[in-house]
Amino acid sequence: MGSAPFESVAVVGAGTMGNGIAQVFAQHGVDVLLLDLDALALERGTAAVERSLARMVKKERMTASEADAARARISTAGELAALGDQDLVIEAVVERAEIKRAVFEELDARAKAGAILATNTSSISITEIGAATARAERVIGMHFMNPVPIMELVEIIRGQETSDETTALVTACSEAIGKTPVEANDYPGFVSNRVLMPMINEAIFCLFEGVAEREGIDTGMKLGMAHPMGPLALADLIGLDVCLDILEVLHRGLGDDKYRPCPLLRRMVAAGRLGRKAGKGFYDYD
Ligand SMILES: NC(=O)c1ccc[n+]([C@@H]2O[C@H](COP(=O)([O-])OP(=O)(O)OC[C@H]3O[C@@H](n4cnc5c(N)ncnc54)[C@H](O)[C@@H]3O)[C@@H](O)[C@H]2O)c1
Repeated sequence: MGSAPFESVAVVGAGTMGNGIAQVFAQHGVDVLLLDLDALALERGTAAVERSLARMVKKERMTASEADAARARISTAGELAALGDQDLVIEAVVERAEIKRAVFEELDARAKAGAILATNTSSISITEIGAATARAERVIGMHFMNPVPIMELVEIIRGQETSDETTALVTACSEAIGKTPVEANDYPGFVSNRVLMPMINEAIFCLFEGVAEREGIDTGMKLGMAHPMGPLALADLIGLDVCLDILEVLHRGLGDDKYRPCPLLRRMVAAGRLGRKAGKGFYDYD
């Protein structure tokens, strides 16, 4: 398997999304440098890739030697100074505009001239992130879905200055790693989260106002609307802090109170009930 047009990529952030993105590229024959400032996050990210590949071997979706080869293509580093001659860098750090801007400023200084800088942001303006660099025409949104090895969609978001060439390369690359790209323009939440997050927020309001119990809300949406999982379970999977951050972006960016985050969501995040990654959210996980 080859993954034209890129032979090697870097992924910045080894959390829920970053390690999944690294795995998918490695599975498709691409060398990946996975970067995270937090050594523990790198360790956890690498362990998550190991577990995911082992599951795929067990389900006979790949052979043990293919899994070994994929694993061997991922190397790790603790600082952006380790960036080499990768043609594509995908950023998957926390959903905070000021942090992303700082990361992109540094990526612009350290990534090879001509490399494309993509962001996996769920909702932050690609135009704003691009403006932190001197190569806004090569900055683009590459929004993978969770869990990355399973979900087919990549939402490709063009910022104000993103070039046709960058868009074409990233579209071809998404197809080469087995994903289906769809294009969206740069407005808060793009398409997927602009539609999804108000639904999740409304489900949390239903719980907050005592309209129904959590199981009733989730079962209603699963069996009544044919959703594969209920909105509260999905919020736990995404991460409640991530949901809150995205809702804040929608609320601020679109200026409409229909996007105001539910007070219960704020309280859960303040309590550290962040969902599956914390072992507890709307549900408890072992
Ligand atoms: N969780 C989801 O379901 C989901 C889905 C689609 C997109 N996203 C987006 O993907 C991005 C990452 O989300 P996540 O859920 O993987 O977050 P996460 O909290 O699991 O991981 C973020 C990682 O970034 C690292 N990090 C923070 N600052 C850094 C820096 N300056 N340099 C290098 N690493 C740094 C952290 O140590 C952490 O390991 C966010 O923009 C989020 O909106 C998330």
